[in-house]
Amino acid sequence: MDPVRERLREVLVKNGDREYTLTLDREDFSALYPRMVRYVLAVSAGTNRLAIFRTNTFEYSPLSPLTAESVALEKAGEWANELKTDPARILHDFPDRKPKPAKRPAADLVILQGSPRPDGNCAILSGWASEAARKAGRTVEVIYPHDLDIHCCIGCYQCYNTGTCVFGDDMTGIIDAVRRARLIIVCSPVYTNTVTAGLKLVIDRMQAYHAERTLSGGRSDQQGLLFSVAGRKGGDNFVCITKVTKAFFQNCGIEPAGEVLIDSVDAVKDIREIKGKKELVYELVHRLLS
Ligand SMILES: Cc1cc2nc3c(=O)[nH]c(=O)nc-3n(C[C@H](O)[C@H](O)[C@H](O)COP(=O)(O)O)c2cc1C
Repeated sequence: MDPVRERLREVLVKNGDREYTLTLDREDFSALYPRMVRYVLAVSAGTNRLAIFRTNTFEYSPLSPLTAESVALEKAGEWANELKTDPARILHDFPDRKPKPAKRPAADLVILQGSPRPDGNCAILSGWASEAARKAGRTVEVIYPHDLDIHCCIGCYQCYNTGTCVFGDDMTGIIDAVRRARLIIVCSPVYTNTVTAGLKLVIDRMQAYHAERTLSGGRSDQQGLLFSVAGRKGGDNFVCITKVTKAFFQNCGIEPAGEVLIDSVDAVKDIREIKGKKELVYELVHRLLS
């Protein structure tokens, strides 16, 4: 999405025989989010961009005495002085954060396996899905959030400055896997009416991926499935988890393509006892990956 851009400042700064251009732009994203404005301060030499600083209005909570505009203007003043006196201080400290190139091959199917029980019913569901994908000649990556190092989202909104998160933990790899997959399966037991805590961490941290897509665009050919089991009886147990998963898919530009929801699992214990579920999973995965 292209913001409405306005140049607030453009200053030429000389330091010996070097010449820098310092610019401050105001980018209005209010068509996307009410009152979202981003300020972009940049230093260039010719066509080379040497340093960049971005800040946006969503970073500043109601009790903060700072505003994005005041911070951007103050930083612009500081940088103008430093470019005259000691440019190295700015220029080596501000690498532009870009998504790192992936270290592993992309998988066609990514399963976010939300159950902390490695041998529970969600493990069975994700096993069926993996098998179906492999039989269709596709590659699979199963991600177990509870085994990973994933900090919770702290609502700093800095992802709207750069398209990446401030935390460099295991979430980077998860976003990378989701970005490149064709089919994403959210596989979770119902815990207190919604997804498990580990999966909720992943879903909230996907805000960075949402920001990346919002700022730079993204693909629109991905589909998502929800597989869930609930201990209690009745479809009502899935009302919340279905909404949470839909919101996640929507945030990531993933088209919801189906659900397998199995209730009464406390009584059944093992979903392999229920006829037709394996075939249903196979059929869905096969159809979406063929
Ligand atoms: C902390 C916790 C919360 C749960 N909350 C619910 C719930 O709100 N509704 C429900 O139907 N089942 C609930 N259950 C039961 C699980 O959904 C059920 O045991 C499920 O089969 C576990 O899936 P798994 O075998 O894949 O781990 C809860 C279980 C735990 C451990």
